[in-house]
Amino acid sequence: MTNLIQAAKFFAHYFKHYKLGMAVIGLFTILATYFQVTAPVYMGKAIQEIANYMGKALNPATRAQASLSQVHTAVWFFLLFSLLMLVAQLINYVMQAIVSSNSVNDMRKGLFGKLQTMTIRYFDAHQDGEILSRFTSDLDNIYNAMNEAIFQLFSQGVLMIGVLWMMFHQNVTLAWVTIAATPISLLLAYLIIRRAEKYVNLQQDEVGHLNGYINEQINGEKVIITNGLQAESVKNFEDYNQRVKDATYRGQVWSGILFPLMSGMSLVNTAIVIFFGGYLTLNGTLDRAVALGLIVMFVNFSQQYYQPISQITATYNMLQLAITGAKRLNEVFEQADEVSPADGIIFTGLKDKVELDDVHFSYQEGHEILHGIDIEVDKGQMVALVGPTGSGKTTVMNLLNRFYDVDQGVVKFDGTDIRKFNLASLREHVGIVLQDSVIFTGTIRYNIAFGKPAASDDEVYAAAKQAYIHDFIMSLPEGYDTVVNDEHSIFSTGQKQLLSIARTILTNPDLLILDEATSNVDTVTEAKIQKAMDNVIHGRTSFVIAHRLKTILNADKIIVLKDGQIIEVGTHQELLAAKGFYAELYHNQMVFD
Ligand SMILES: Nc1ncnc2c1ncn2[C@@H]1O[C@H](COP(=O)(O)OP(=O)(O)OP(=O)(O)O)[C@@H](O)[C@H]1O
Ligand SMILES: [Mg+2]
Repeated sequence: MTNLIQAAKFFAHYFKHYKLGMAVIGLFTILATYFQVTAPVYMGKAIQEIANYMGKALNPATRAQASLSQVHTAVWFFLLFSLLMLVAQLINYVMQAIVSSNSVNDMRKGLFGKLQTMTIRYFDAHQDGEILSRFTSDLDNIYNAMNEAIFQLFSQGVLMIGVLWMMFHQNVTLAWVTIAATPISLLLAYLIIRRAEKYVNLQQDEVGHLNGYINEQINGEKVIITNGLQAESVKNFEDYNQRVKDATYRGQVWSGILFPLMSGMSLVNTAIVIFFGGYLTLNGTLDRAVALGLIVMFVNFSQQYYQPISQITATYNMLQLAITGAKRLNEVFEQADEVSPADGIIFTGLKDKVELDDVHFSYQEGHEILHGIDIEVDKGQMVALVGPTGSGKTTVMNLLNRFYDVDQGVVKFDGTDIRKFNLASLREHVGIVLQDSVIFTGTIRYNIAFGKPAASDDEVYAAAKQAYIHDFIMSLPEGYDTVVNDEHSIFSTGQKQLLSIARTILTNPDLLILDEATSNVDTVTEAKIQKAMDNVIHGRTSFVIAHRLKTILNADKIIVLKDGQIIEVGTHQELLAAKGFYAELYHNQMVFD
């Protein structure tokens, strides 16, 4: 029930942008319903007139007065009202298509826009495929339901009211007879819907898991092939697929039962109406012709009365999928946005120093990763972070441009808590070269100028030269116009990192964070990365995470992290002299070089 209310709010939110369209739909729904419930009255009247006519025609005394003109009039009205109903419905369908396609369009835009305001935490905690399935499967379900079920729900509701009104207007006794079995039908529907709902919800969750798995496996195809795990991958896939199938099947069966069951109830009800109608006729409380007309009319009404019930139940699966879809989209919309203080201080560049003061941090509650980190870096200094894998180096970097916020302690730029700065201005001055380089679909020029699209060609070339990637780019037949993308990239890992460095150089940040790629690169590329790093670091305050200690020999300060704690601090010489963890690490690496 809460899901239903939530879904109703969700749809209302989007529909409210189409007030005119909704007004047209509302008006024509009422008109169509009026025509629809009036038509049977004329049909009943036609039957009544036929009975009258036959009564007169069969009696020699009154034969001369018998006339079919009343029958004709009634039939014409019946046809006219049926036609008007069709026209009104047609106008409605067109309007519904306009409103639904536009609202789904808005939802898609809203969802993507929302993603762009969310914290990194969300993306770190959710599989890509999971997120993607909200754009595909859930939005498709909502669209289908809007076209075929949601507006129906409204028009069928109006029809129900219209039929009730007309029935009680025509004959109260027969009206009661017609609706007598309703509680039984509703109870049956409710019981079945409750089961169906469970499986339809499950189905969408399972589809999300399946998409997540497929996405991950496709991304990891090389690792799968290398390890000969193709069969394993297929086997796991089958498990996911089976779960989707089971949930879909159960949901479909339970919601599929509804329509035939309600159609059956409608038939039973029609029989009841005929039976009681016949009883009324034979009992002689009504004129024969009138009674006959009433029976025909109420047979029609009985079917119309059950139409909303069976229509809604027929499209129930669709509705349920849309409710689930709305719930899953709401889950995204309810995620916390990145917080930028309302009138945050505009950060205009680092003037003095960066400090981390007793910083504690955990990705997941109760599982602390950084346990009280203190770092102080003066403007223009280069700090290197070293330490075993998983020691928290990247995590420290994540805090410096507020991908995440500290749990305890504070990160300060020039003595001001960075949470007090306007977020955009903060990030403008913090450049980051990620450990995993990212390539966007587009030309190489576009990729380098990503953070500064207005950059001139000369600026782009200069950045690429400083990053030692210019010559490689020029060696490609199409040079800077070569189209690349992340999956089908012509770059090696080292070259990708060089490209990321060029991208960062171009934005000219005050504070630079460089998370060195761990992968092994050839010595030539390594030397290039080294030189590119020197170029980009020059004259800036920088945090460098280095795996190859050779790259940080001249750092102003080397910080050794282990298990989320700083265990050593000093220059290269100082740390060597201390003969501690760093000295050992350094000697081990030297042996290999
Ligand atoms: N998004 C995340 N959610 C939960 N835990 C995470 C997340 N990212 C990292 N961790 C955990 O935090 C710890 C520190 O990870 P971090 O990435 O900072 O290590 P690192 O020092 O950069 O390692 P590497 O040298 O391999 O890059 C690890 O134990 C890791 O499992
Ligand atoms: Mg790392």
